[in-house]
Amino acid sequence: MADDETAGSFGPSKLGTKEYWDAAYEREKTNFEDHADVGEIWFGEDCMERIVDWFREGLLVQTDSRILDIGCGNGALLVEMAKEGFTSLTGMDYSQPSVDLAIAISNSENVNIAYQRADILNEEDPIFSADRFDICTDKGTYDAISLSPDDVVQKRQTYVNHVHRLLKDAGLLVITSCNWTKEELLEHFSSGFESVDEIRHPTFKFGGKVGTTTTSIVFRKKDSG
Ligand SMILES: C[S@@+](CC[C@H](N)C(=O)[O-])C[C@H]1O[C@@H](n2cnc3c(N)ncnc32)[C@H](O)[C@@H]1O
Repeated sequence: MADDETAGSFGPSKLGTKEYWDAAYEREKTNFEDHADVGEIWFGEDCMERIVDWFREGLLVQTDSRILDIGCGNGALLVEMAKEGFTSLTGMDYSQPSVDLAIAISNSENVNIAYQRADILNEEDPIFSADRFDICTDKGTYDAISLSPDDVVQKRQTYVNHVHRLLKDAGLLVITSCNWTKEELLEHFSSGFESVDEIRHPTFKFGGKVGTTTTSIVFRKKDSG
């Protein structure tokens, strides 16, 4: 199947390149230093709050669960989780300026979060030899990888395999996407994961059809990936 048949209704974009994110977070770092602006909250504050609410409910999570945010950006989601009392938080992003910004914001909020520069697609990065995680979160990173200008289908499969590797047995992936539907995510992750929950976002109605602009699925790692 050709890439464009499996890439959904969107094609490659600058959002799928590291150069874009490095330049974006360099700008956001300067803005934060100049006037304490933390920058973009991807998919909005309400979306982030609904994810944090799901963690706060605590049905599948403990406050000391080992949590990794993949493609953490400015670290805003982790900062909110730290304020809710989660104690074992790590953020990773392949963009060094993003990691620098996230550290500066966390320090200013006086919260304890570990950050490291790492590429989820590069298994040589030290994060892959660290202790495994109970939970991985992703808000917009699988989407960004899905916009890569080359080898996009291969990169998506590598992403699924690598998240599987980073998680403990029966570990969870809480993934939020605005590019893929629930059905598409279920299909993409079916080789290594089963869906155990969904975080509901507002729906819209258009032309008699009901849809959502944002999808959050909670996957549990299956034995083999
Ligand atoms: C849409 S932004 C979302 C940032 C953050 N999760 C949020 O919700 O604000 C996508 C993020 O994924 C990061 N990213 C993209 N590809 C990555 C990769 N291969 N490994 C690690 N991070 C990546 C980008 O640097 C960027 O921070």
